Amino acid sequence: MIFHVMTLFPEMILQGAGQSILKRAMEKGLISVDAVNIRDYTDNKHGRVDDYTYGGGAGMLMQAQPVYDTYRAIREKTDKDPKVIYLSPQGRLFSHKDAQKFALEDELILLCGHYEGIDERVIEEIVTDEVSIGDYVLTGGELAALVVIDAVSRMIPGVLGNDDSAKGDSFQNGLLEYPQYSRPEVWRGKRVPEILLSGDHAKVDEWRLEQSRLRTMQRRPDLYQKYLDDEDACNRQ
Ligand code: ADE
Repeated sequence: MIFHVMTLFPEMILQGAGQSILKRAMEKGLISVDAVNIRDYTDNKHGRVDDYTYGGGAGMLMQAQPVYDTYRAIREKTDKDPKVIYLSPQGRLFSHKDAQKFALEDELILLCGHYEGIDERVIEEIVTDEVSIGDYVLTGGELAALVVIDAVSRMIPGVLGNDDSAKGDSFQNGLLEYPQYSRPEVWRGKRVPEILLSGDHAKVDEWRLEQSRLRTMQRRPDLYQKYLDDEDACNRQ
């Protein structure tokens, strides 16, 4: 997977993606991150990429020209027609399903906004998906792009050390993950649940599913209702 990131802060992207599991995935050639500086493509002789908004109002807007020319430069590097994901608080909420779907692509272009946003005309021209990572406003799209890169990368076979490790994830089966324990058996007087020491794998699986259900019911009733509805639909088929 090649992630082309259109940004005013390429170092932020390269630093963020160049650690830990993503770093290893890059070394293994499973992903690559190409951070392209939008400022390098501005026609403005002072290197400006923003201007006042028509109609007035506070703040500056990223102009269409440098964003579009950055996009054209990326398209010239590839014979693919990648999806263009614009990170913005106006987008649909990014989900585990989106991460799975995006992971099937060969290349993705991520567009990071700044200031008060980007001229609507270039968004209409190039963007295929507008996504938000939550109902809050960040100072720019870079942290959101890193969230998407991380969530998508771990869905790519071979990125996680053990291919099974994405399977028990929260959301994989529509439920939150069950509680987990490591050594020692007793810590500050708290014992590991007895069933996990029993060696009875069927019983352990049953316990874990029950814990997942309970957690989801208590912490995310919205998700739990969806899980019940999906289960219902499956049973009716
Ligand atoms: N840019 C600013 N805020 C954002 C958000 N919540 N999600 C995605 N991109 C953003």
